[in-house]
Amino acid sequence: MQHHLVLKTAGLPPKKTGTLVIYAMEGKPPEGAAVAIWQATGLEWERTARAAAFAGRQGQVIDILTPPNLDADRLLVLGAGKPDDGQTHGLTGWADRGGSLMAKILATRAGKAAVVVDGPEATPQAIAELAAGLRLRHYSFEKYRTFARKEELNGEPGELAVTLCVADKAAVDKAIDKRMAVVAGTLLARDLINEPANVLGPEEFTGIAVELSAMGVEVEVLTEEEMGKLGMKALLSVAQGSDRPARLVVMQWHGGRKKDAPVAFVGKGVCFDTGGISIKPAGSMEDMKGDMGGAAAVTGLMKALAGRRARVNAVGVIGLVENMPDGKATRPGDIVTAMSGKTIEIINTDAEGRLVLADALWYTQDRFNPRFMVNLATLTGAIIVGLGHDYAGLFSNSDDLSAQLYAAGLASGEKVWRLPMGPAYAKLIESRFADIKNTGGRAAGSITAAQFLAHFVNDTPWAHLDIAGTAFGAKASETSTGWAPGFGVALLDRLIEEHYEG
Ligand code: BES
Ligand code: MN
Ligand code: ZN
Repeated sequence: MQHHLVLKTAGLPPKKTGTLVIYAMEGKPPEGAAVAIWQATGLEWERTARAAAFAGRQGQVIDILTPPNLDADRLLVLGAGKPDDGQTHGLTGWADRGGSLMAKILATRAGKAAVVVDGPEATPQAIAELAAGLRLRHYSFEKYRTFARKEELNGEPGELAVTLCVADKAAVDKAIDKRMAVVAGTLLARDLINEPANVLGPEEFTGIAVELSAMGVEVEVLTEEEMGKLGMKALLSVAQGSDRPARLVVMQWHGGRKKDAPVAFVGKGVCFDTGGISIKPAGSMEDMKGDMGGAAAVTGLMKALAGRRARVNAVGVIGLVENMPDGKATRPGDIVTAMSGKTIEIINTDAEGRLVLADALWYTQDRFNPRFMVNLATLTGAIIVGLGHDYAGLFSNSDDLSAQLYAAGLASGEKVWRLPMGPAYAKLIESRFADIKNTGGRAAGSITAAQFLAHFVNDTPWAHLDIAGTAFGAKASETSTGWAPGFGVALLDRLIEEHYEG
């Protein structure tokens, strides 16, 4: 339904460019290869910039139709903002540039565009980031529209060809290939989160994960029977009210040395969260199709690592369930024994994500003895109250891992902010009847959830990312038209590339 994006690179702009795009930095005329293009038009720079109220800031544009002496229908001069001063995060700036360019190209309904990117700041890595921004902003989830949108697109070309004109094509192609492997992971996460729960339940999600084996990922699927034998009664207690059986999917990417312990990622995959017997109010309950955002990010990450043949051993474990009210569903007050042997009093069946993760985390450290575990989960509404939709909550038993994640967040634009843990919070989930209970009351709701998870990580270095505010329901940005940006894939790929590869 939506046109297909074809991204290419070339040395010079192709003939009959359609839309030709050049950049100008804040307060400066076009530089480098863009100089000759601008001069061909014969237009006076100062005067044109003034007439267009153009100062070179990001998002600003000079739009010239049928530019004189150029083999193009349209010339766009885009503001590139300030040169990187080393304080701002240069690469996310380039992704934003790509995103806002795609928005402009889509708005002008061009079928073909050539973008001249050069100058000292346009390193292969920066241009790859621009390409990522273009692709990420082009994404939209249209598969269920049959009528309204079709009409709107009437007359649009079936293909959008964007050529990046660069100085060092070989180096740029290499950087783009690598970055696009990660983008593919982000887009997979978006697709999974956008998909409605009638279409994507635990078994259907499993099917998508299994498809990664074509890329060299080793995928194993545990059934309810197998999980039962392992004693995963915490996870299974969440699924028992649903007609759809739970699955635990274990994905392994073997890109490192044989003897190296893996890094591990664990995802909450609640394909739909009604709350169970502690049923949620109806308002916005439809958003709970996205309650598998942690599992989506882990699956997207495995795809990214395999796609770029990352030199690391990585494990992804996702617990897939549906949380439904039913005659067989778990009741408040029920007590279950987790795989670790700890007993849990279930106070509120809507605090189900931590029950799924309890067994998934224990299983992961027990089987793989990983260098660290990072889990991702749309775990608490309270994290949205605390941090909104811009930062994910970070909880950890490791200062080193926390610092690495914080830095990877800034570099990838998928930011995390650490919150405290400690004995005073742990006390809030002590149970009258069992070892622990699954809720701690209104105070510090995101922290008590993290304290609960900490019971199941043994002494493995571990971080929990509460992505309830960032996995879905997010505002539109330069690189995403909103709701499900695919949070976590780029962040964790960056963490691995920066610290755990080679
Ligand atoms: N999936 C929800 C958390 C959530 C809420 C994610 C809103 C995204 C948007 C989670 O399973 C949940 O229901 N948490 C409860 C915990 C409470 C019962 C202790 C919550 O946050 O209210
Ligand atoms: Mn819930
Ligand atoms: Zn949930």
